[in-house]
Amino acid sequence: MVIVLLDKVPEGDKLGRNSRIIPENFLSTRFGMNNQSRAALRFDNRVALITGAGRGLGRAHALLLASRGCTVVINDLGGAYDGGGDAQQKVADEVVAEIRALGGTAHANYDSVESGADIVDDVIRQYGRLDIVINNAGILTPEVWSELTLESWQKTLAVNLTGVFSVMKAAWPHFVEAGYGRSIMTASPAMHGAGVAAYAASKAGVIGLSNSLQFEAKKLKLDIKCNAIVPHADTRMTRDFSTAVNVRREKMGKKAAPVTPQEILNRLSPAYVSPLVAWLAHEDCTEEATVHEAGAGYFARFNWARSDHLYATEKEGIEGVPSPEDVRGGAAVFSDFAAGDLPPAGDGAMAGSALARVFDHLKD
Ligand code: NAI
Repeated sequence: MVIVLLDKVPEGDKLGRNSRIIPENFLSTRFGMNNQSRAALRFDNRVALITGAGRGLGRAHALLLASRGCTVVINDLGGAYDGGGDAQQKVADEVVAEIRALGGTAHANYDSVESGADIVDDVIRQYGRLDIVINNAGILTPEVWSELTLESWQKTLAVNLTGVFSVMKAAWPHFVEAGYGRSIMTASPAMHGAGVAAYAASKAGVIGLSNSLQFEAKKLKLDIKCNAIVPHADTRMTRDFSTAVNVRREKMGKKAAPVTPQEILNRLSPAYVSPLVAWLAHEDCTEEATVHEAGAGYFARFNWARSDHLYATEKEGIEGVPSPEDVRGGAAVFSDFAAGDLPPAGDGAMAGSALARVFDHLKD
């Protein structure tokens, strides 16, 4: 795990509203990269679709990619953070205007990600190709478990998970035809468990989808890479969610949650997440089925970890199906990750390799 503390927040980089491009030498200086790895990552002749790019993280990703020569399609229906509110096309228009003013190439699309085919058709009509999809659009319904309704659950999954399915289903044939593609999904720390069950489930879901698309790409032996990120940034979503939480706390007679100091918010500009997205979107990046977290100048990779294992077979003197007590006896083994391994995702090996071990064990 690498933690890099910034001694200076880049000028003009306030809350993502005036996001500027990270200087060419910024990451290289910090990470002590060699000369070769300092070569600028360019996206000339590439076309990227970035969903939910009218605000926050998506906007920051779009600005960075456009500054590196990428043609970007700014998709955003301009709704409220919880999926309600009136659609406001101006959020996508404003980002397009911003990119064009900086000399970049951008096009606005206002469809919901639930209509993935319409969005991808629009990209192809405009630019004739699609190389990169950054699945970023998302909503956060604030209900705690006791208040969560089926309607709210379905609304969240419709955007955060089925919306990603819809966009990728339409984008995939273009990736396959070109033999090339980069897909980045946006998960969340909430997927590890949080007081927003629908959101957490949807964000865990995109990891399974991303890994499965990587599996499909491997079967086809094409240069298609599917990865996911877990971002952390100060955005409209986090601000409006905090407000909703405080309204609930107030109703319950509780004190408001402490206000995050401005200094921390400045470090949480969405622009700090985008360098990871740009790297994962680049043709040089060979990462597959990974999950990386990013925010505030910090980057790390998540992995599934498998503990040491317990055999309960005839070799251990257990005839037939093991008992619950046999499993209870293995509790210490299940906590021993030092003797375990990091199974790879995206190639179907996770389940297969575990089963293969049992049969190897029986053969010995
Ligand atoms: P945001 O609310 O500032 O921006 C999200 C954008 O997506 C909005 O402009 C919204 O209009 C758009 N959008 C929503 N539903 C859409 C739909 N059906 N079709 C097209 N566009 C739609 O939120 P933020 O923070 O920039 O979030 C971006 C992504 O990052 C989301 O998927 C969110 O769940 C995820 N995320 C954000 C974190 C954070 O710390 N900000 C943490 C973890 C995940």
